[in-house]
Amino acid sequence: MSNIKAVITGIGGYVPDYILNNQELSTMMDTNDEWITTRVGIKERRILKDKHAGSSFMGAKAIEDLFSKTGTKPEEIDLVICATSTPDHIFPSCASMAADKVGIKNALAFDVQAACSGFIVSLSTAASFIESGKYKKVLVLAAEKMSSITNYTDRTTAPLFGDGAAVVLLEPTTEEVGVMDSLLRTDGIGYKHLQMKAGGSANPATHETVENQQHTIYQEGAYVFKHAVVDMAEISAEIMDKNNLTKDDVTWLVPHQANLRIIDAVVQRTGVEYEKVIINIDHFGNTSAASIPLGMWESENKFKKGDNIILTAFGAGFTWGAVYLKWGY
Ligand code: UT7
Repeated sequence: MSNIKAVITGIGGYVPDYILNNQELSTMMDTNDEWITTRVGIKERRILKDKHAGSSFMGAKAIEDLFSKTGTKPEEIDLVICATSTPDHIFPSCASMAADKVGIKNALAFDVQAACSGFIVSLSTAASFIESGKYKKVLVLAAEKMSSITNYTDRTTAPLFGDGAAVVLLEPTTEEVGVMDSLLRTDGIGYKHLQMKAGGSANPATHETVENQQHTIYQEGAYVFKHAVVDMAEISAEIMDKNNLTKDDVTWLVPHQANLRIIDAVVQRTGVEYEKVIINIDHFGNTSAASIPLGMWESENKFKKGDNIILTAFGAGFTWGAVYLKWGY
């Protein structure tokens, strides 16, 4: 094992200006603010209105924010990993498109598809690249235009999702900070219950698939909920136990934001006080892979060097996991 660790040295983010609140949604379908607030915890979400701007547009904005805050130059970056379920195209990668938009020309760039767990999977992957000694300045980006795959006639999914992007800069360190541990899992039991039914190689686009709304999110909410509650709570407790962290040792918990009731279950299982839990579901909704880094972006000024931070996520696949970080600045 090398003594090199990968530490986050900067963070950037971007959300579109347009706010779609529960009142406006209630004019579009048979739903209401009371149901969405009590069952899920969302009040409003951001929507990228420009039909021709994709996730790479928001990803590039987030990278520009990071570059201006940290003084990093595009030519310094040697790897870009983008977590997304909503790339601009099936190919090329969103990572390559976002990199191009900000002038990154000397880097490897590729996407990771791990649905809502995409950021923690990408962060863990990026940390391994840095620990190997081969890469020095890595961008871990999560960019999601969830509105592009949301069916706004389906009240069971439309209120849930929002758009946004956030990115962290990861660099090597020999200090005892950075990505300390990760536990990542997958179970194909989730396949049928949370997916986009058409548009991939098993069911390519046809007139019928478009007419049948098979290019948008299909979710059996209650089934997914049951697994999310157990798996996110257990893996968070497991990574804490493995690293001898009590609830008092955890400075911040940054959970994926799919449902406030799922977050509550993680809080109950780990015992971490609610004041230490980063929440953005109320104003951003479920931004899939972007929810965790957006939460970190909004909370950056609260984090202090040495803080113990637990990230945890659950998503389609099913795939889920937790990462233990020590904040580095
Ligand atoms: O991010 C990746 C992974 N995804 C998740 O973790 C999401 C997990 N699932 C959930 O968060 C929840 O299951 C949902 C928020 C999706 C749904 O909440 P629920 O409490 O599981 O509701 P339900 O699907 O069991 O539906 C309960 C009732 C139904 O009515 P009946 O059959 O009891 O009369 C629905 O038709 O709520 C109704 N309903 C709504 N009513 C008003 C469903 N959606 C709505 C709505 N407005 N938008």
